[in-house]
Amino acid sequence: MADGIRIAPSMLSADLLRLQEQAKQALDGGADWLHVDVMDGRFVPNLTFGANMIAALRKLTDKPVDVHLMVVEPENFIESYADAGASVFTFHPEATVHAQRQLEAVRKRGMMAGIALNPGTPLGYAEELVHDFDLLLIMTVNPGFGGQSYIPSSDDKIRRARGLLAAHGSPAFLEVDGGISSKTITRARDAGADTFVAGNAVFGSADPGREVRELRKLCMQTA
Ligand code: DX5
Ligand code: ZN
Repeated sequence: MADGIRIAPSMLSADLLRLQEQAKQALDGGADWLHVDVMDGRFVPNLTFGANMIAALRKLTDKPVDVHLMVVEPENFIESYADAGASVFTFHPEATVHAQRQLEAVRKRGMMAGIALNPGTPLGYAEELVHDFDLLLIMTVNPGFGGQSYIPSSDDKIRRARGLLAAHGSPAFLEVDGGISSKTITRARDAGADTFVAGNAVFGSADPGREVRELRKLCMQTA
């Protein structure tokens, strides 16, 4: 979007029996990206979707499909997720031995490469890899489930992440994920985030499109 922020509803919180309708509601409300949470039951204690979900959403929209892999050895999925139409491929660097190599491989397959940092994972990973990623995802909850509360100390980490990107002249997106709602989006934006994942806030609402518009409006208000 021209306003420089992106709202990325997380399909994890959508009603799976009405997936198409729910995705369309979010897109009609101005969702910029659709966020897909891939969990393997090992990196996080939950299991969700795979490449078939990405392929299904790809048929529905030309908007970027933002894939967040909470899996061990994410390298096993680069080829199939590129084939399925993923636009952003974000993984947790501690889940692979050679994070830099995987970021290169992701870019080579034409996807944006992202790294995600858990609340307890040091920002140092981002410093080491700063020229190798297109997106830095700061987790504002411990991953695994939708509907958790934003961890307040995330503000400081987002701020430091923004400083790090600026110091290195990195144009990477700075995404936040977990507990983002009309109550928390402003603090995350003030700390420096520009891309906002929201699951429960959007799909827990009777009107997901309206909620997307509301989140964007809050982001656009001056501090
Ligand atoms: C958490 C996932 C999130 C989740 C966010 O492990 O990475 O993307 O869907 O959901 P909310 O916005 O409900 O915290
Ligand atoms: Zn996510």
